[in-house]
Amino acid sequence: MNDTYFVTGALGCIGAWVVQQLVARGDHPVVFDLGGDPRRIRALLGADGLARVRFVRGDITDLEATKREVAACRPRAIVHLAGLQVPFCRQDPALGARVNVLGTIHVFEAALAAGVARVVYASSAAVFGPSEDDGTAVTEQVACAPVTHYGVYKQCNEGTARIYWLEKKLTSVGLRPLTVYGVGRDQGMTSGPSTAMKAAVLGVPFKIGFTGPTDFVHASDTAAAFLACADGGEPGAHLYNLHGDTVDVGDVVRAIEAEVPAARGTITCQGPRIPIPPQLDGAAIRAAYPNLPHTPLAAGVRATIARFRELHAAGDLDRSDLPR
Ligand SMILES: NC(=O)c1ccc[n+]([C@@H]2O[C@H](COP(=O)([O-])OP(=O)(O)OC[C@H]3O[C@@H](n4cnc5c(N)ncnc54)[C@H](O)[C@@H]3O)[C@@H](O)[C@H]2O)c1
Repeated sequence: MNDTYFVTGALGCIGAWVVQQLVARGDHPVVFDLGGDPRRIRALLGADGLARVRFVRGDITDLEATKREVAACRPRAIVHLAGLQVPFCRQDPALGARVNVLGTIHVFEAALAAGVARVVYASSAAVFGPSEDDGTAVTEQVACAPVTHYGVYKQCNEGTARIYWLEKKLTSVGLRPLTVYGVGRDQGMTSGPSTAMKAAVLGVPFKIGFTGPTDFVHASDTAAAFLACADGGEPGAHLYNLHGDTVDVGDVVRAIEAEVPAARGTITCQGPRIPIPPQLDGAAIRAAYPNLPHTPLAAGVRATIARFRELHAAGDLDRSDLPR
């Protein structure tokens, strides 16, 4: 298609998949990220693909820099993924608010100033708290009572997006994934299952730090949803849950063992449940964007382990998320 997309936080897990898909279809991703290590993108793209990505080191808490870089590339859309995850917001709530809340306002300001038509941003299922779990799938209509600073910041961003639509007619879509998994998912409250897949490939024991069911969505499907929303849709400030497969983390361990029989008994899970209802209703986004992919959990685990094996064989498997 040959369009330019400005992707904040694109060195992270979801961003790496967004970049990979943009490159695969011939578009031009501009990576705007605080970090300087493209390891997650490298794990998905060969050297040829990497050469087609423009990297800009930048901080969304810096309004002028964000505006300048968005204006410089005049993107078709902004995919806003930069943010600090639950544990980082818990450690430093003020920094979490600066990045997740103020940074998001800066991204909307930059879009407005440069005349960008659409902003697709990562909200999160963490806007919901355990009190919303009545045993059924949670829809977008349910009132939210998050139990983390992170969830409150994401809830605030959804309000910010609504006001940019009401006051400035800037169209946006906020997506709420719960547990994204796959290659590149190596940090955050729910990253354990992906790290466990890597540990199985490496033949090292690993304990996932939570138990119970959660809503697993493959990183590739997550990225595809962000791009579908970046490419089109109705004007307005939209919000969608992302639903993959609601599965008990113990069953994910069994799916890993099915792929790597030698890992039997070495991958365990222990700890509290994730304080977010485990099943999101994903009907609204599927009605608006009917062709979104859905990777069944077993296939996603298989593909993740296959890619980890390839990276391991090539001596390129990052181990920074494994305990030393
Ligand atoms: N991974 C999940 O399961 C999940 C679930 C729900 C929502 N989300 C949200 O999706 C987004 C992407 O998630 P991810 O898993 O790819 O996260 P990640 O932690 O892997 O990546 C986040 C990226 O943001 C960058 N970043 C942090 N502060 C920045 C700043 N001030 N300026 C520019 N870049 C900055 C980091 O360098 C990193 O590359 C985040 O906003 C996250 O909160 C993720």
